[in-house]
Amino acid sequence: MTKVHLTILAFGILLIGACRNAKSTISLIQNADIEVQVETLLAKMTLEEKIGQMSQVRHFWDIESGDVTKKHIGSIIHTEGPLPGQDAAEWQARFRVLQEEALATRLGIPLLLGVDAVHGQNTYNGATIFPHNIGMGATRNPKLVQEASRITAIETQACGFNWVFAPCVAIPYNEKWGRFYEAYSEDKNITSALAKASIIGLQGDLTSNKTVMATAKHYIGDGNTDFGIEGGETTLSPEHISSQLLMPYKTAVQEGVGAIMASFNSIDHISMHAHKAWITDTLKGALGFDGMVISDWKGYSKFGGIDIINAGIDMVMAVDGDLDYFQNDLKRAVESGNVSMERINDAVRRILRQKYRLGLFENPFPKTELSTNIGIKQHRDVARQAVRESLVLLKNEKSILPLNKNAKIILVGEHANNTGLQSGGWTMHWQGTDTSYKGGTTILEGIRKLSNGEVIYDSIGNQKSDADVAIIVVGETPYAEFFGDIGRDNNPHLLTLTQKHQNYISNYTKQGIKVVVILISGRPLVVTPQLNQADAFVAAWLPGSEGQGIAEVLFGDYNFTGKLPHSWPKAVADFNGIYGPNYWNSSITPLFSLGYGLTYKTTNNE
Ligand code: BGC
Repeated sequence: MTKVHLTILAFGILLIGACRNAKSTISLIQNADIEVQVETLLAKMTLEEKIGQMSQVRHFWDIESGDVTKKHIGSIIHTEGPLPGQDAAEWQARFRVLQEEALATRLGIPLLLGVDAVHGQNTYNGATIFPHNIGMGATRNPKLVQEASRITAIETQACGFNWVFAPCVAIPYNEKWGRFYEAYSEDKNITSALAKASIIGLQGDLTSNKTVMATAKHYIGDGNTDFGIEGGETTLSPEHISSQLLMPYKTAVQEGVGAIMASFNSIDHISMHAHKAWITDTLKGALGFDGMVISDWKGYSKFGGIDIINAGIDMVMAVDGDLDYFQNDLKRAVESGNVSMERINDAVRRILRQKYRLGLFENPFPKTELSTNIGIKQHRDVARQAVRESLVLLKNEKSILPLNKNAKIILVGEHANNTGLQSGGWTMHWQGTDTSYKGGTTILEGIRKLSNGEVIYDSIGNQKSDADVAIIVVGETPYAEFFGDIGRDNNPHLLTLTQKHQNYISNYTKQGIKVVVILISGRPLVVTPQLNQADAFVAAWLPGSEGQGIAEVLFGDYNFTGKLPHSWPKAVADFNGIYGPNYWNSSITPLFSLGYGLTYKTTNNE
């Protein structure tokens, strides 16, 4: 093919893409140029190099020195595991070595360097950690989500990455699902609006060193499995999935999202990774997605080998020992005709297209000076605003809130003084941490900073007290995928508060002290008895690093503005069985409906 032919072809592809993908951040001319470059490069590649581009590996555990060259690796992932270095400068330096190796290969194709930065650059100790998406869903504030994502992109680039596996655009139907909090809302309009904001914030104009490629995940039905089991069967009709779950993906495609991650669940008993009808026909065909579909963890060995490639997966997370198997198996399949060269070319084209769109060929390295931007005050101020706006006031009897700044306060519970516990899963570690990390502020520290009165701390909830008010912070311990599913064997998580936390509340209500309960949780819990006991009750979700945001609202410096992103369950019995097609089926009445949330009549600032 000559260059002229390539240009014509590119314009043809482009026009189709442009019609479908109206809001893409890339201009028509740029896109046409990119298509020419992609085709030129693709034409030079061997099969091994193409399969290499389709391979994503863990930086320490799946490759040895020289493997980026030898195995033609296309992408590196960092998630749970050894840290790339002591500080961001060392992280950058480590990834720079790998990037330099890729650039020195025969074709010099740069690496995509991806990370699970799902609420801030949460794999880095000292980063700004935002409320998990469920809290962002309560803010209903797309501008804020965009700003939080812009900051996340900066702190992520500062650590050496150019790609994040966020946002999660699930629309979960069952609180038992251990990833409930990764999603914004049960409402598709809220989810789509915030997904859009997140993608704009993360990707910006794409080519800047301060933005990263985003990933909408997990396609599709991840939050809708029977009984809320991660990776289970999603028993919903295609019509239901199209009308209720597809909307955020349409939005993501319109916004030019670079990647979409396939989900662990199955539909029609076909793994989503191998579901050609949903991936190729719907996502790439009907929706016109021209970015790359990435598998989830070990997707190739888990979900049927070449079936997932034939279904439309473009890049494979070939981690934890999968790399050689994936590369050899796929090569054999192409040679024997079980996977067509056209399919391989389509996959590689999509990967290269994103690398060009991100400007990685000209600009493969992050700016070293960015590392000083991690966790700075301006970033934390935005996270604190997000905490304030995420809080939902469920009860405020006799207007016990806002608190008087001169009141004698006893603050209760281990969650009150621990940034790990207040942040949930995907914070420093995959399943989160139960200890404080660098740079954050606990709720206790925030209350102490704003109070003019005496503040006592009771970490184990059993003191006798003459305080004016007890603020009792209770909730869930951190969890993430699989381990957070309620109902899995040996899973300690409950749909109610633990007996220990119930006792904290009873201990103080029995003494006749006014009680404000702050619930830290990744999902609405069944807390009907505690709502009755308490004078005031606040759903604080998983606020992240800026605990002071809670104090600012409790003391009335700011009003409550958060609204429930989910209907709130009344009884544990409501969870028996498969959820109805529209989340709350007609036989279940929630305690509070979607959108519920009280406010103060006035604040200190009015
Ligand atoms: C999760 C993804 C995540 C990936 C990489 C998987 O287990 O489902 O959401 O991006 O791991 O860490």
